[in-house]
Amino acid sequence: MRVLVTGGSGYIGSCAVRHLAEAGHQVLILDNLSTGHASLSKGFELIEGDISDSVLVARCLERSDAVMHFAASAYVGESVTDPRKYYSNNIESGLALLDAVLASPVRIFVFSSSCAVYGVPASLPITESLPKDPINPYGDTKLAFERILTAYSVAYGLRSVALRYFNAAGAHASGTVGEMHEPETHLLPLALRAALGTAPPLKVFGTHFNTPDGTCIRDYIHVSDLASAHIKALEYLAAGGESTALNLGTGHGSSIREIIKLVEEITGRTLPHEFVDARPGDPPALFASPEKAREILGWQSVHDLRSILTSALMWEEKKRKN
Ligand SMILES: NC(=O)c1ccc[n+]([C@@H]2O[C@H](COP(=O)([O-])OP(=O)(O)OC[C@H]3O[C@@H](n4cnc5c(N)ncnc54)[C@H](O)[C@@H]3O)[C@@H](O)[C@H]2O)c1
Repeated sequence: MRVLVTGGSGYIGSCAVRHLAEAGHQVLILDNLSTGHASLSKGFELIEGDISDSVLVARCLERSDAVMHFAASAYVGESVTDPRKYYSNNIESGLALLDAVLASPVRIFVFSSSCAVYGVPASLPITESLPKDPINPYGDTKLAFERILTAYSVAYGLRSVALRYFNAAGAHASGTVGEMHEPETHLLPLALRAALGTAPPLKVFGTHFNTPDGTCIRDYIHVSDLASAHIKALEYLAAGGESTALNLGTGHGSSIREIIKLVEEITGRTLPHEFVDARPGDPPALFASPEKAREILGWQSVHDLRSILTSALMWEEKKRKN
C-alpha cells in the first residue's frame, strides 16, 4: 500500500517507516519538523509541512491509500503548562487532517493514541474496557481524537485503529533511528545517558509507592514492536476490519530499581541516581493487557527489557560518536 505517514520524522514514526518499507509498502512522510529530525527520514521522501495545511495534505493523499498519524505534541508536562498548544495541534490540526482525508478516497487510518487515555486505572492489567479518565491535557487530546475517529467511522466510513502505546523505548535494529527528543523526558534514555556520563544523575521520583520495591512500575514496549503492530493494523483495515482501539504493551511492568540494575549490568557502569519526591498524580503501576491486540491483529511484543535497553544503548553510543 501507499502510506502517508504524518510525523514520520519523529521517534516512533521514523521506525515505523522503516518497517513499512521492509514489508513492501510505499511511504510518503509529512512532517513539520517541530520536534522531528530530517536526518531520521533519510532514504525516504519527506514533505516538510503541517498536517493543518489542507492543500498540501490533499496533494499527499492523492498519492496515498492509507494514513498513519503519528504527528502530535507529546510532552505530558508541557501539556499541563501550555494546554492551548496541545488542543490546537492534537485536536484542531488533527481535525483539519481528517477533513482532508474525508475529501479524498482514503478510508484507512491508523492513529497513535496513548495509555494516557486511562488516567489512573481502577485495576491492573489495563484492559481496553476500563474507564477512560485522562489526568492531563495530553491524554485528554488523545481520548478526544479517538472519540472523533469513532464518530467519523460510524458517519463517514473512515475505518481506523487507535493504538494505545504504553512506554515506547529502544531503537531500530539498523541503528539508523532511535529516540532524539529535545528535551528528553523519557526514563530509559535518561538512565542510559546518566550511566554513560552524558547526562546528570537520574532523578528517581518517589520510593514509597505501593509496589514491591517502592518505585514506579511501567510497561516498556520496543519501538519495533510498536511498528510491527502498525503494519498489522494497516493490513487488518485493508482486509475490511472494523474500527477499534487496542493497547500496545508487553503485559509486564518494570520498576525503576529494576531498570537501574539492568542498565548497570548492560553498560558495565554505575548509574548515578538520586531519590526525590514523587510527582503529584503519578500512578504507582501501569501495565497493559495486550490480549485484545493479540486476538484482533495476531500481534504480540517480541522484545524484552534487556533487548530494549541493548538497542537503546547502541543508539546512544552511536549518537555520542557522531
Ligand atoms: N513516545 C512515547 O512513549 C509515546 C507513547 C504514547 C503515544 N505516543 C504518541 O506517538 C506519536 C509519536 O511520538 P514520538 O515519541 O515519536 O514523538 P516525536 O515528537 O518524536 O514525533 C512527533 C512527530 O510529529 C511531528 N509533528 C508534530 N506536529 C506536527 C504537525 N502539526 N504537522 C506535521 N508534523 C508534526 C514532529 O515534528 C515529530 O517529527 C505521538 O502522537 C505521541 O503522542 C508516544
